[in-house]
Amino acid sequence: MLHDSMVTKVEAPPAAIVAGDEPRWFLTRHATLVSAPHRWRPRFLSRLRTDLVAKSIFFHGKAGRWRTLAMVVKDGSMATVLYRLAHALGRARLGLLAAVVYKVNAMLTGAVIGRRAEIGPGLVILHSHGIVINSSVRAGRNLVLGNNVTIGTEKGKTPVIGDNVYVGTGAVIIGGIRVGNRARIGANAVVNKDVPDGGTAVGVPARVIKVRSLEESLAEPEAA
Ligand SMILES: CC(C)(COP(=O)(O)OP(=O)(O)OC[C@H]1O[C@@H](n2cnc3c(N)ncnc32)[C@H](O)[C@@H]1OP(=O)(O)O)[C@@H](O)C(=O)NCCC(=O)NCCS
Repeated sequence: MLHDSMVTKVEAPPAAIVAGDEPRWFLTRHATLVSAPHRWRPRFLSRLRTDLVAKSIFFHGKAGRWRTLAMVVKDGSMATVLYRLAHALGRARLGLLAAVVYKVNAMLTGAVIGRRAEIGPGLVILHSHGIVINSSVRAGRNLVLGNNVTIGTEKGKTPVIGDNVYVGTGAVIIGGIRVGNRARIGANAVVNKDVPDGGTAVGVPARVIKVRSLEESLAEPEAA
């Protein structure tokens, strides 16, 4: 039996994303979590690799070497690569280069992702066009984004997004709110209030229509 107190063990709060843990859980396209052994180191390429592993698991439920590599050419991956590069350059105090890569990302992929935005390992961009993410956004591991998603500031405050969050196409998340771990945001929702852990929010303004426990979020183990 899993208890709420165990959730934090599995899903570290977004504040921990820079500390460098192993993301053992990944989100599948059936909105369930599967565990996969994966080593993560706090370096640009390692983080990018985790993004590709997460994408492979999202689409195929597994992440062999070739499947993971194939994710590079999938829609949305270029935006992830350029965001990670701009972020890494910014951290290396190469601000001008970071700004150039940020602009190239916006022009080539249509994704405007602030280079100072802190997004944990396992970022999956399904389609990049129209994505706008403010520089001060903090998001945990395994964030999955559809196209035209906006995560932005309202009254000077920016959302904090938990781990294993799925954001459907066209969703807008604004203001100083917290989107909990394992939350699912429906297509075209406008989220301006907190979403609890495991919550599904839809509509304008968004309302929480269901809350899944951690147990309900875990994928059934595959039969041997
Ligand atoms: C929000 C979402 C994740 C919920 O999925 P779910 O848990 O399977 O929810 P259900 O389909 O059982 O729907 C539950 C209720 O919410 C409503 N609902 C679902 N998604 C909605 C949305 N985006 N906006 C408004 N209402 C929505 C359903 O009509 C249903 O209402 P009812 O109970 O009155 O019939 C899913 O509907 C969604 O919006 N996914 C985004 C898909 C997407 O963006 N795909 C493109 C990716 S690039």
